[in-house]
Amino acid sequence: MAWIVENRRTQVVEKRETPYLTADMKIDLANRYFPRYPTKRAVLLPALHAVQHQYGWIPTQAMEELGEFLGLQPAEVMDTATFYEEYWLKPKGKYLVAVCRSLACELCGSTELTKHLKKKLNIEPAETTADGKFTLVEYECLGSCGTAPAALCNDVLHENINPESFGHWLDTLPEDPHEYHDSSVTWDETASAH
Ligand code: FES
Repeated sequence: MAWIVENRRTQVVEKRETPYLTADMKIDLANRYFPRYPTKRAVLLPALHAVQHQYGWIPTQAMEELGEFLGLQPAEVMDTATFYEEYWLKPKGKYLVAVCRSLACELCGSTELTKHLKKKLNIEPAETTADGKFTLVEYECLGSCGTAPAALCNDVLHENINPESFGHWLDTLPEDPHEYHDSSVTWDETASAH
């Protein structure tokens, strides 16, 4: 295991005038999570998710705003955000396609799935398409080994994936990812429909 060290002391934080953490988001976070957690600080993880859901990633300015809102130092927010690889600290595509690369999925064809998506989207894992629509990554086990191969498209789980059908289905996704709220999809049942 290797530690990747980044020099953040000299990082210039790009600021915009409009806050990322809007008044509506604060009200929503307070109403939804403050009653369920023992302290405001404890709301950090769902608050980071809320920012990421809204903007697709978590800008440094948003971390500072979250720190102020939850009574945390910006460094504490950044420590947490950088610990989990599911939080994106730089812009990514509107759709994050995450293929499971762990054993059960590998045995059931995840390598072919990734290869197909790399060719279709013309990117390598961890890259984003030129139009900013898709980012491709590989994750470890998604907890769906019995229905491998599996992948996530944003927060929706897809199981028993057929690479060709899944690739065609990606073409049908709306430009605005907030309009995409499908429930989990099992591809052996839906392959004929795509
Ligand atoms: S190995 Fe892919 S979901 Fe578990």
